[in-house]
Amino acid sequence: MADFSEKVIYQIYPKSFKDSNGDGLGDILGILEKLDYLKELGVDYLWLTPVFLSPQKDNGYDVADYRKIDSRFGSMEDLEKLIEKSNEKGMGIMLDMVFNHTSTAHEWFQKALNGEREYQDYYIFKEGSPDCPPTNWQSKFGGSAWEYVESLGKWYLHLFDVTQADLNWENPKVREELKGVIRFWKEKGIKGFRFDVVNLISKPEIFENDTVGDGRRFYTDGPHVHEYLKELVKDTEIEDFVTVGEMSSTSLEHCIRYSAPWEKELSMCFNFHHLKIDYKNGNKWELMEPDFMELKQLFQKWQVGMERGDGWNALFWCNHDQPRIVSRLGSEGKYWKESAKMLAGMIHFMRGTPYIYQGEEIGMTNPHYTSIEQYKDVESLNYYKILLQEGKTSAQALKILAARSRDNSRTPMQWTDSKNCGFSQAEPWLSVSDNISKINVFSQQKDESSILSFYKKLIVLRKEKKLISKGKIEFLENENKNVLAYKRTWADKALVVCCNLRETESRMDMDCRWKDYKKVIGNYNNELPCVQDNKITLQPYEFLVLEGNE
Ligand code: GLC
Repeated sequence: MADFSEKVIYQIYPKSFKDSNGDGLGDILGILEKLDYLKELGVDYLWLTPVFLSPQKDNGYDVADYRKIDSRFGSMEDLEKLIEKSNEKGMGIMLDMVFNHTSTAHEWFQKALNGEREYQDYYIFKEGSPDCPPTNWQSKFGGSAWEYVESLGKWYLHLFDVTQADLNWENPKVREELKGVIRFWKEKGIKGFRFDVVNLISKPEIFENDTVGDGRRFYTDGPHVHEYLKELVKDTEIEDFVTVGEMSSTSLEHCIRYSAPWEKELSMCFNFHHLKIDYKNGNKWELMEPDFMELKQLFQKWQVGMERGDGWNALFWCNHDQPRIVSRLGSEGKYWKESAKMLAGMIHFMRGTPYIYQGEEIGMTNPHYTSIEQYKDVESLNYYKILLQEGKTSAQALKILAARSRDNSRTPMQWTDSKNCGFSQAEPWLSVSDNISKINVFSQQKDESSILSFYKKLIVLRKEKKLISKGKIEFLENENKNVLAYKRTWADKALVVCCNLRETESRMDMDCRWKDYKKVIGNYNNELPCVQDNKITLQPYEFLVLEGNE
C-alpha cells in the first residue's frame, strides 16, 4: 500500500464550485477553469463528489448509472479533459463511489420492480404485509428505513432517502458489477476513490427489530465488511491508489483494520466522532455548546490509537455534509481570521492526510438562512417537518437548521465580491452567503496574511517536514479545557503545536526545553511566545508551533 502522509486532498462539490455555462449550477468545465488556483494552493488530489447520472434527490448520491456523467455537470469528454489536465499539473482526480445503494432510477432497481428476480437479489427485498415493515430501523434522513412496493408485495431497505435503495453485497453478482465500475474509471485515468458510507455495506444475516436504537448497530461495520473491501481492492488492483472510506458511527478498532497497510483494504478513513461534540444527547438536531474536553479526548483517542494500530486518519473538519467549522468552533466576528487559521493548523499538524473542503481555505461561514424556502437538502427538508411534528415552532426549527443543515457547506464558492460571487452568470441554485465582500478568493490571493495564504503555508510545511508527515504524536495539556496541544517527534526533533480554543487569552505550561525552540508558524505576528512563570499565554484563538531538539 502506498504512503499518503505528505499528500493533501481537496474536496470539490461540483454543483457549487464554478459554473462555466451560466445555468446557475457548477460543472466539470468550471473545475477545469480553476485548476491553476488549485495547483497554486498546492493540493495533490481533487476529490469530486458524484457527477454520475442521477435524479439528484440527494445531490448525486443517488446514482442512476455509474458509468455516465449527468448532463447537468457536463459530458464524459469534459471529465476526460479534466482528468488529463489535472494529471498534467500533477493532481489526481478521485471519484466518489456510492456503493452502499443506488438510485431507484438505476436500471437494476427498475428491473427488480418489473419483477425480475435476478435483480431483486441485487437489493434487500423482504416479503411482508403493507402495514408492517420487516424491522423498526430508521432511515438516516428520518422515517422508516423500509419502503413497501405494492406490485411486488415486498419491502426494500433504504438506509438513506426512499430513492436510495441499499444494494445486497451478499450477492456475488453485485460485487462483480461494482468491481466493473472501478475498472471502468481506472481506465479513464482516475487516481483514487472515496467510498461513500462504505462501512454500512454488509448487512446482518437476520433482520431483527432494534429495541435500543435505530438499527445501526446491526449493519455498522457489519459482519463481512472487511472481507468485501479486501476482495474489491484486490480484484480491481487498487492497493496503491488513494482510497478513503467514509465510516459512519464507526469504531477505532475497525478503522485500524480498514486502514492498516497489511490489511490491504483502504489508505485511510473518515470518522465523525469529533464532529458530534455539539450534539446534545448525541442528537444532531438538538443544539449544544461544543464540549471541548470531549474534542480533546477524541483527538487523543483517534490520533494515538490509530498510530498504535498502524491505521491512518483522514484529517478533516469540513465536507458537504457538515456546517462550516469556523461558524461552529471558531468565530465569525472579530477573530474570524485567527480562528479559521487556528482550526486549520490544529488538524494539518496531526498524523494523517489532511482534506480541505472548497471554501474552507478562505474561511467560508454558514449562510444563516432564515426561511425554509432557502434550503434544498433532502435531509434538512425532512427534518424540518420532523422538528415541527415534535412540537418545535418554525423559528426554533429554522434556528436548528441554520446550525446543522448540510446546505451550510453547499453555498456557492466565493470567488469574488461581484454579483453571484464570481460563481455564475445566473442566479445560483442555492443562495449565496451575504458576506462575499468580506470573504472571497480574489481578495485573499493578494494578501500574504490571508487564510488562503496560511493554508498554502500549511501544505508546504507538510511536504517539507517529516515531523509533520511521519512524526509520532503525544498530547499535552490534557486537563486544560482551553488549550489543545500536542507534540510531534521524529528522529531527534520535536514540534509543539498549541491551539487556544477560546476567544479569550489562555495559558498553558511551558516546558523549559522549549526555550530554545523556534517558531515555525502561527496566526499572530509575535516572533516568540509570551512566557511568564513557566506558562505560555496564548492570544484569543492563537495557533503557535515551535520546533527544536527533543
Ligand atoms: C454520505 C454522503 C452524503 C449522502 C449519504 C448517502 O454520507 O456524504 O452526502 O447523503 O452518504 O449517500
